[in-house]
Amino acid sequence: MGNIIEVTEAFVKQSLEEDSTGHDWFHIERVRRNALTISENEQKGNSFIIEMASLLHDIPDEKLNESAEAGKEKLQSFLNTLPLKESEKEHITEIIFSISFKGGNGQTLASVEAEVVQDADRLDAIGAIGIARAFAYGGKKGNPIYHPDFEVRENMTLEEYRGGKSSSIHHFYEKLLKLKDQLNTHTAKKMADKRHDFMELFLKEFYNDWNGKDENNL
Ligand code: ADP
Ligand code: NI
Repeated sequence: MGNIIEVTEAFVKQSLEEDSTGHDWFHIERVRRNALTISENEQKGNSFIIEMASLLHDIPDEKLNESAEAGKEKLQSFLNTLPLKESEKEHITEIIFSISFKGGNGQTLASVEAEVVQDADRLDAIGAIGIARAFAYGGKKGNPIYHPDFEVRENMTLEEYRGGKSSSIHHFYEKLLKLKDQLNTHTAKKMADKRHDFMELFLKEFYNDWNGKDENNL
């Protein structure tokens, strides 16, 4: 198994080396670590499957490939080079396609391993790291940091949101502040608390600074 993990690591490192949208190799490493921590703490899930799915979870992402089909093909052809059982390949693939925020929104996941990897990926989208990733991604897409005229309402759907103009600060309301309540495992919920509070504090300070409220501190 050690060898399979190492080969997979090398493949992922090389595939995501150039990324600057927040899906770089270090994101993958953090997701793997979070996933293994959750799995150990909950004492559930097959750790080999969890580690493999964590390592490969962003490989087929449409944003990082020519098309969704090309991404799927990239994952499949890599898995086919490994000495894995058909059932293992299927399980890893199933996890990866079921966990994304878009694809997996609200959907019940088919396995404990999928729950763990989804939680691990979501934890990396919140807190200090999540804040950094949001601005990196937004900047890369050409979105402004913030625009006070862009609309944000409570519980806006993704479609409504995408129809409007967006900023990285808006992404917090669209997704980041909702993630805490969408986690599957008790362990991830505990890990999310501090990260969530930190985002709330960040937003409070952001609006303070935006509005020039420094006179209070003089
Ligand atoms: P994931 O890989 O976690 O499923 P995405 O691929 O949707 O998530 O996003 C990767 C990172 O970029 C995440 O940290 C996410 O919060 C951030 N991100 C996604 N869409 C936006 C956006 N419109 N504005 C700012 N950040 C975004
Ligand atoms: Ni990810």
